[in-house]
Amino acid sequence: MTDPKVVLITGASSGIGRATALRLGREGHHVVLGARRTGRLAALAGEIRDAGGSAEAHRLDVTDPANVTAFADMAVERHGHIDVFVNNAGTGPLSRLDALLTDEWDRTIDVNIRGLLHGIAAALPHFQRRGAGHFVTIASVGAHEVMPMGVVYCATKYAAWAITEGLRLEADPSIRVTTVSPGIVESEIAGTITEPATREAIRVYREAPIPADAIAAAVSYAIGQPSDVDVNELVIRPAGQR
Ligand SMILES: NC(=O)c1ccc[n+]([C@@H]2O[C@H](COP(=O)([O-])OP(=O)(O)OC[C@H]3O[C@@H](n4cnc5c(N)ncnc54)[C@H](OP(=O)(O)O)[C@@H]3O)[C@@H](O)[C@H]2O)c1
Repeated sequence: MTDPKVVLITGASSGIGRATALRLGREGHHVVLGARRTGRLAALAGEIRDAGGSAEAHRLDVTDPANVTAFADMAVERHGHIDVFVNNAGTGPLSRLDALLTDEWDRTIDVNIRGLLHGIAAALPHFQRRGAGHFVTIASVGAHEVMPMGVVYCATKYAAWAITEGLRLEADPSIRVTTVSPGIVESEIAGTITEPATREAIRVYREAPIPADAIAAAVSYAIGQPSDVDVNELVIRPAGQR
C-alpha cells in the first residue's frame, strides 16, 4: 500500500458498507465506521484490526445533521484530514404507492436523500479547506430506472444521482466525485420491507445476488486512481440481471 487514506463510511454495520470497510481495511486504509448498531461496528473494527488493518467505530445516525458533522469533525481532529467520505447508509422498505406507507416513504427520504446531503455538508468544508477530497455515493440501478414497488426508493436514488452529479459539476477539480450504482447485491436491505406481497415479490427478484465485495472492489478502484483521474460512474450488477 503506497497511499493509505482516511476513509469514512456511513452505514458500515452490514452489507455493502461492511464489505467496503473490510476490503479497504485489508488494503491498508484507515477506515472510520459509522452506523447506529454500535455492537456490530465495534466487532467489525476489531475484525479489521485483528487482520492487521486500522479501524475505528462511531455511532452515527445520518438523519441527524449535527451527528454527521460531529462524525466528520472528529475524524479531522484525530487524523488531520479526511481523504474519502463514502455516503453508503441507505434503507429500502419497498411497497406499492397504493399501500400508502407514508411513514416508510418519509424514512426512506430522510436516510437516502437527507442523509446524503448531511454527509456532503459535513465533509465538503474540510475538502475545500484542504484542497483535496473524494465523495463516493452508493446510489443504485434504481437511480437509472423506476421499478414498480420501488417508486419512492427509486426516487431517492434518482435524487442521490442528481445531487452527486451536481456536486461534481460545482466542485473544484481538487475534489473528486463518484457514484456507484449497484444492482442486486447480498445485504440486509430487503429486511426493511414490511408489506407482505412486496416482501415476497422482492424475495424472488433478489434470488441471485452478487457479493457485497463486488461493490467494495468498485469503491477501491475509484479511490485508487491518481488524483487527476475522476471515476464518475460505475454500474455493477449480476450478469443475469435485466
Ligand atoms: N443490496 C442491494 O441490492 C443494493 C442495491 C442498490 C443499492 N444499494 C444501496 O447500498 C447501500 C447499502 O445498503 P445495503 O444493501 O448494504 O443494505 P444493508 O445491509 O441494509 O445496510 C444498510 C446500512 O445503512 C445503515 N443505516 C440505515 N439507516 C441509517 C441511519 N439512519 N444512520 C446511519 N446508518 C444507517 C445500516 O446501519 P444501522 O442500521 O446499524 O444504522 C446499515 O449499515 C444503500 O444506500 C442501498 O440503497 C443496495
